[in-house]
Amino acid sequence: MKILAIETSCDESSAAVVKNGTEILSNLVASQIEFHKKYGGVVPEISSRKHVEVLHPLVNEAMEEAKVRFKDLDAIAVTYGPGLVGSLLVGLCAAKGYAYSLGIPLIGVNHVEGHIYANFLKSQIPNSKLKTNHKSQIPNFPFICLVVSGGHTIIVLVKGHGEYETLGRTRDDAAGEAFDKVARFLGLGFPGGPIIDKVAKEGDPHAVEFPRAMMDEGYDFSFSGLKTAVVYHVKRMKKEKLSDIEVKDLAASFQKAAVDTLVDKTIKAAMDKNIKTIALAGGVSANSLLRSELKKKAEAQNIEVIIPPINLCTDNAAMIGCVGYYRFKRGERTTLDIVPVSTLKI
Ligand code: KG4
Ligand code: ZN
Repeated sequence: MKILAIETSCDESSAAVVKNGTEILSNLVASQIEFHKKYGGVVPEISSRKHVEVLHPLVNEAMEEAKVRFKDLDAIAVTYGPGLVGSLLVGLCAAKGYAYSLGIPLIGVNHVEGHIYANFLKSQIPNSKLKTNHKSQIPNFPFICLVVSGGHTIIVLVKGHGEYETLGRTRDDAAGEAFDKVARFLGLGFPGGPIIDKVAKEGDPHAVEFPRAMMDEGYDFSFSGLKTAVVYHVKRMKKEKLSDIEVKDLAASFQKAAVDTLVDKTIKAAMDKNIKTIALAGGVSANSLLRSELKKKAEAQNIEVIIPPINLCTDNAAMIGCVGYYRFKRGERTTLDIVPVSTLKI
């Protein structure tokens, strides 16, 4: 069974062909970072326009790389929320066009569910260009998934395919948003997550003990206070320009505080619910400290940790194709009057 998947929820256009739900035949991502960089964040109108420009050639390229003909496709899967409405609309309209003209089912997919399902994709495909050293490990149900990205920070109990219980979520900024805002404040550029990750390696994570927010309050998070704490700390330093090492120390200390909260709350959720597997998902799961700390602390409690390879943690269409497959198998179909939902919940 072959699914063409399309993802355009934010600033990455992506098209993928996925076989039998978990085998990636192609997974192409056209990043728009260069166009948004000078504004220090994603500009929705630019994002929609760039999706319009690249999507059809990208789909053709994904089909060619997969060596699949349009007439051999069984379904089209597409992200319909959450995300930027204009951006979602571009992918959704294209997907409707493909499904209608090919006479095959359309399956609307929740982007956050897509991130969770990145954990079910096989990273090693025989004879594929997508070679990686990552050893695929598929989580068994039930498992706890920490979905942590630029738009979302949630702890989900995944009980089975399509069966979710949200245990906690951020009450303000998403973790990735906090990384991006702190990086911008420190003059490090956009997107901030990967830059802070790199710079922090040369800083002292204990230089400043930033607050670990809401540790006594269940599984919800708050990151806007941490961001403000960084700003006030810098103001109190009363310096015209921070030195390189001061920036590195601040980046490392901020990252440590954010990661400690994410890791400790996720492990607490797993222990409270007696769950033996934690999976990571979303762009921030590319963070090296988050990956290593979660592994170290969870394994000390006999909890296994599953983390997809970095290219499947960030936005991509293969994860959407994977959800599409399981929805298709359950008999779910989406009608052509579906509209984008910017605040879609799982
Ligand atoms: O999942 P994603 O690609 O898009 C959304 O759905 O939001 O996540 C993008 C977010 C950005 O905020 C980016 O700064 C963050 O993931 N990110 C990282 C790292 N790589 C990407 N944050 C921390 N460390 C990283 N290495
Ligand atoms: Zn995402």
